Amino acid sequence: MTGGFSIGARSQAPELMDNHSVDYETFRGCLVDLARVNAMTLAYRPTLAFLERLLRERRLPPDRPLSVLDVGSGYGDMLRLIARWARRRGVPVALAGLDGNPWSARAAAEATPADLAVSWVTSDVFESRARADVVLSSLFTHHLGDRELARFLAWSEEAAGVGWFVNDLRRSRFSHDGFALASRLLRMHRFVRHDGPVSIARAFVEKDWRAALAAVGLAERDAEIRRWFPFRLCVSRVKPG
Ligand SMILES: C[S@@+](CC[C@H](N)C(=O)[O-])C[C@H]1O[C@@H](n2cnc3c(N)ncnc32)[C@H](O)[C@@H]1O
Repeated sequence: MTGGFSIGARSQAPELMDNHSVDYETFRGCLVDLARVNAMTLAYRPTLAFLERLLRERRLPPDRPLSVLDVGSGYGDMLRLIARWARRRGVPVALAGLDGNPWSARAAAEATPADLAVSWVTSDVFESRARADVVLSSLFTHHLGDRELARFLAWSEEAAGVGWFVNDLRRSRFSHDGFALASRLLRMHRFVRHDGPVSIARAFVEKDWRAALAAVGLAERDAEIRRWFPFRLCVSRVKPG
């Protein structure tokens, strides 16, 4: 039971992975398959393109490493990819992942080779006073309640010195039904089979993002809301230099 899908109304159905009494192996198994889905659906691309943009526009600190915080970092696959991107591009970075579930820090640390320096922090985002040049999140915002979206944008605006990038799902019937079928055919973890379609039904749409931006005092020209092929809707903000 995934709680159904409506293009016109955001689902409030809960996700299995948000139940913190889940045991470590189950949570880790879910994150491993989520990382497979991320890779198969080209989900890292928009976030890396944002970092490339900062590099191109010379928005990286000249005298110290670029600090990057990934909120809801899960298995840490995004940060491992960013660590490799930074190495290739010769960009010094200080990477941190923050996640509310303690199993996330453990699974991410276990999956990260010793030569990639990433710190993993367990905290609810709203209890954290972390700061970074860049605040990222991926597949995170749809976990929030309706009213928490603007709160998270305000949090990101405060926490990020240079800018922030939200990478999340686009709510569409095609993605919802397609993911439900594909995840069964690919024998994905049972949490992913359940939570994938729920996540798509819980995703915020463009007008939600516009309202949340307005609620934190940002005009449309201050941020960009953009669809990324095939399944993502991303919102980015680069603060004036
Ligand atoms: C769907 S997973 C996404 C993981 C990873 N970013 C990815 O793209 O695969 C969402 C993550 O957000 C975390 N999370 C949910 N609510 C949170 C909160 N309020 N504060 C911090 N982390 C949270 C969950 O524990 C989970 O690991």
